Amino acid sequence: MNIPFIDLKTQYRRMEDRLRARIDAVLDHGRYINGPEVTELEEKLAEFAGTRFSVACSSGTDALLMPLMAWDIKPGDAVFTTPFTFIATAEVIALLGATPVFVDIEPDTFNICPKALEREIETVVREGELNPKAVIPVDLFGLCADYDAIEAVAAKRGLIVLQDAAQSMGAEYKGKRAGSMGRAAATSFYPAKPLGGYGDGGAVFTDDENLYQILKSVREHGLGHHRYENVRIGINGRLDSLQAAVLLTKLEDFPEELEARQRVADWYGAKLKTVTTPVVPEGYRSAWAQYSVLVDQRQNVLDRLKEAGIPHTIYYPKPLHLQPAFAKLGYQTGDYPVSESASRRIFSLPMNPFLEEAHIDRIAEVLNG
Ligand SMILES: Cc1ncc(COP(=O)(O)O)c(C=O)c1O
Repeated sequence: MNIPFIDLKTQYRRMEDRLRARIDAVLDHGRYINGPEVTELEEKLAEFAGTRFSVACSSGTDALLMPLMAWDIKPGDAVFTTPFTFIATAEVIALLGATPVFVDIEPDTFNICPKALEREIETVVREGELNPKAVIPVDLFGLCADYDAIEAVAAKRGLIVLQDAAQSMGAEYKGKRAGSMGRAAATSFYPAKPLGGYGDGGAVFTDDENLYQILKSVREHGLGHHRYENVRIGINGRLDSLQAAVLLTKLEDFPEELEARQRVADWYGAKLKTVTTPVVPEGYRSAWAQYSVLVDQRQNVLDRLKEAGIPHTIYYPKPLHLQPAFAKLGYQTGDYPVSESASRRIFSLPMNPFLEEAHIDRIAEVLNG
């Protein structure tokens, strides 16, 4: 039985005609940069996430970078985030010369722990060497972080909250959609994401009109009111019209795919007996970017999966505070024990909207032993 980890081929076949028509429309009008598809996508994304504005851009990484640039995050600033995430979350902080300050996670949701956040902020305040400026909670594997608690902690010291919703497009938190938390949110359209394109892409969401105007300028080399007027240092962060055309088509089927992902997660939850399955707190809905479980003796289990031909991946084998890229920050093993323990015990199973119950039965059979 062939069980795909993600399944972009089946998805493509289901929308082939609509996709080709959308792509043909771009080829016909030829406005490959800033074409009408980009504006249409931004309107539909904002409507989907429940925000006033969305700014499409070239990747999830740039979607994180652009608001930090707009807020003038710079050397001497501290930006708090989780070490149990993809490198991009902390990389953008370092790119601006600011200092990532890591905060350990909750053991059940793998998301940043609000109490630990408060402790880390107070430590930075006490030490007085860095200015605490912002916090980037990550919605890991598609589950939103606890924004009510995080925003309450952040507000005490006037920190800006930037939601890293790269993995959580379509997720819900207390009746709100991912993308609508914090001062701004960033998502990714990397092909393997719940809403993925056929290449790199991303978007920023916000309700703040002033920030929206600055983000549009940052995305386009610091554009002012005229074509060759540059009022700030920016980047080339645009999303291609062709990519917007692909995403507009995929967005049509996205609500149905989210339902299908939930169905797959429910099958896993009911059938897996020997691993710790993900926790989804009351009032949350995950986008199920990944279905990640915990187990002791992980290598034995992965060997069994390999033998049975079941694809699997480890997100993330090394927390960011132990990555060579951040060696200068001086962190050591033991600094973030919950993240380190998760890194040793976690692995992800196939997750996509086209998995059938028989696939999950087979995976459960191998895992349950
Ligand atoms: C949590 C997180 N943040 C940021 C990114 C960066 O997104 P991109 O690959 O589109 O630059 C990713 C995904 O790759 C991610 O998983």
